[in-house]
Amino acid sequence: MKVGLIGAGGIAGTHHKGYLANGARVVAIADINPAALEARQLEWNIPHAFTDYRDLLKLPEIEAVSVCTPNALHYSATIAAARAGKHILCEKPLSLSLGEATAMVKAAAKASVTLQVNHHLRSNGAAFKARQILDSGALGRVTFIRLRQAHDWGGSPQVRDSFGKKNLAGGGTLLDNGCHMLDLARYFGGPVQEVYARMGALKFGIEVEDTAHASLRFTSGAIGEVEASWSATGWEEGFWIYGTQGALEYTNRYGKPVLRHSFRVSPGTTWAEPDVALYDFAGEPSHTRHVGNFLAAIRGERPVICSGEDGLEAVRLVLASYQSARLNQPIQLKGFKGAL
Ligand SMILES: NC(=O)c1ccc[n+]([C@@H]2O[C@H](COP(=O)([O-])OP(=O)(O)OC[C@H]3O[C@@H](n4cnc5c(N)ncnc54)[C@H](O)[C@@H]3O)[C@@H](O)[C@H]2O)c1
Repeated sequence: MKVGLIGAGGIAGTHHKGYLANGARVVAIADINPAALEARQLEWNIPHAFTDYRDLLKLPEIEAVSVCTPNALHYSATIAAARAGKHILCEKPLSLSLGEATAMVKAAAKASVTLQVNHHLRSNGAAFKARQILDSGALGRVTFIRLRQAHDWGGSPQVRDSFGKKNLAGGGTLLDNGCHMLDLARYFGGPVQEVYARMGALKFGIEVEDTAHASLRFTSGAIGEVEASWSATGWEEGFWIYGTQGALEYTNRYGKPVLRHSFRVSPGTTWAEPDVALYDFAGEPSHTRHVGNFLAAIRGERPVICSGEDGLEAVRLVLASYQSARLNQPIQLKGFKGAL
C-alpha cells in the first residue's frame, strides 16, 4: 500500500517507521515548513514532497494518509483526505471541538474510508492483555481505575509552540496526554458518566495547563482518576485497575514495563500474599502495532482498533474536564456539548 504523511514533525517519524515495518510505502510527504520537509524527504528517501497537503491528496496512487499536523489542523486535513477518498490515521486528539470531530466521523463514513485515531496505547500489549483479563471476569467487579501519563519534556526549559500556544495546541497536558488516558479509561471502564477536573500552569510560563487531574465516575459505578502532567520528574505511563477479585498494575516507571496481576486463587493466599502473574511484552512498539492495525482494518482483516467515534468520545471527555475545571464543579457527560 502507498501512503502519504501530512506533517513532517516529531510524531511523523513513528508513523513512517510504522508503515515501513508493516510493509507499506511512504511515497509522499507534506509540510508547510520547507526546511523540515526537505530534511525528511532526504532522510526517508520519499519521492514526492509538497508544502500544501492538498497537492499530496491529488496523487491517485496514495490510498491512505497519516495526519500528523498540530491539533488545530487535524480537522481540515482529515476532511480533505476523506473527500479525496483516502483512508486516514489521524493523530490525537481527533479535533478540538465536538462539532468538528462529528463532521470528521461523518465525512469518513460518507466516503467509506477507514478513520483510525492514533490513541496508540490501545495497541499496547499490556493494555490488550488487561482488556482480556477484564473480559474474562477474573478481576470481579471493577471498583477503581487510575491512569497516568506524565513527563517533563525531557528536562527542557521550554515547551515548543505547537504544544504551548493555545491557538495551535488548543489545550495543554490534559488534551495532549490526558486524551490518551481518557481513551484508555473508556477502553477499560466503559462509558463515563461524570467528570470533575482541576488543572493549572504550574511549571512553564505557557498559555495552557501543564498539570491536570480528572476524577471520573463510570456508568458502571466504578471511580476513575486520570493524571496528566508536563511538570513531572522523568516519564511515566501507567494504569492501575482494581476489582473485587484482583488488581492489574502497569507502569513503565521502573525499567522494563511489566503488567502485574494480583489475585487469590491458590489455597492459603491472602491479600497480603496473593497469587501474582507477571506479563512482559516484546516486539514492536505500540505505535508500530497501531499502524499495523490501521492497515489491517483497511484490508478488512479486523475492526478499527480506535475508531473516529472513540476519538470523538475522548474529545468529549477532555472538553468536559476543561469545563469542570473552569466552573469548579462536576460535569455530566450525557448530552455534553461544550467547547474549549
Ligand atoms: N500519539 C502520540 O503519542 C503523539 C505523540 C506526540 C504528538 N502527537 C500528536 O501529533 C501531532 C503533531 O505533533 P508533533 O509532535 O509531530 O508536532 P511538531 O510540531 O513536531 O510537528 C508538526 C508539524 O506539522 C507541520 N504543519 C503545521 N501546519 C501544517 C499544515 N497546514 N500542513 C502540513 N504540515 C503542517 C509543522 O510544520 C510541523 O513540522 C499533534 O496533534 C500531537 O498531539 C501524538
